[in-house]
Amino acid sequence: MIKLNKQYWEGRYHSNSTGWDLGKVSTPLKDYIDQLVDKNISILIPGAGNAYEAAYLFNSGFVNITILDIASTPLESAKKKISLPDDHFVQQDFFNHNGKYDLILEHTFFCALEPRFRESYIEKTYQLLRDKGRLVGVLFNFENKLNGPPFGGKVTEYKNLFKPYFDINTMEPCYNSVSERQNKEMFIKLTKKSNGNQNFRSRSSKKQN
Ligand SMILES: C[S@@+](CC[C@H](N)C(=O)[O-])C[C@H]1O[C@@H](n2cnc3c(N)ncnc32)[C@H](O)[C@@H]1O
Repeated sequence: MIKLNKQYWEGRYHSNSTGWDLGKVSTPLKDYIDQLVDKNISILIPGAGNAYEAAYLFNSGFVNITILDIASTPLESAKKKISLPDDHFVQQDFFNHNGKYDLILEHTFFCALEPRFRESYIEKTYQLLRDKGRLVGVLFNFENKLNGPPFGGKVTEYKNLFKPYFDINTMEPCYNSVSERQNKEMFIKLTKKSNGNQNFRSRSSKKQN
């Protein structure tokens, strides 16, 4: 299988094969952002791409935003539209990132990872969140484990994966997807459990870069 590394993603941006790119903020995320009251919370957007969600947050008055991507191309374009200091834009492999956040926003990053890295993703989001921090966003709800990205999945599988680490507040089909994603995505709102780290696996089974 082709390696989904930095070169792969830079190549997708350079060749303009960015079928995932909505060109605007995703409506389920927009609607979630619109009801957030505290604009000082710290927010991480991993695999942010062209960072439409980050731009929407910034234009809505949020400034404690970290925009992270393994590829430099989308980060450079994000910098042009979001007037935040350079240290808000992090070019790094998500699995090497350190920090503490109140909220992690998920939008077509989970599905961009090979399914064998899903537990590593969940453990990493768990580590990066403060107590009672939240992981919120959308996941695809169609089966596809082989021919991605995007790699899909089913609600039962997602629940089994996330439950050891997160309380599942919401995991249900989206009613407000953009038209091209209708019936294809699930909204998730998950709260970090205080004792979830007892379930961490051994280092050897984690994502290797
Ligand atoms: C399918 S795209 C989604 C981009 C953006 N979230 C959007 O919806 O437009 C996946 C993004 O994740 C980034 N990515 C892939 N693997 C990564 C990793 N291990 N760490 C950080 N970013 C990664 C890619 O460079 C790409 O920008």
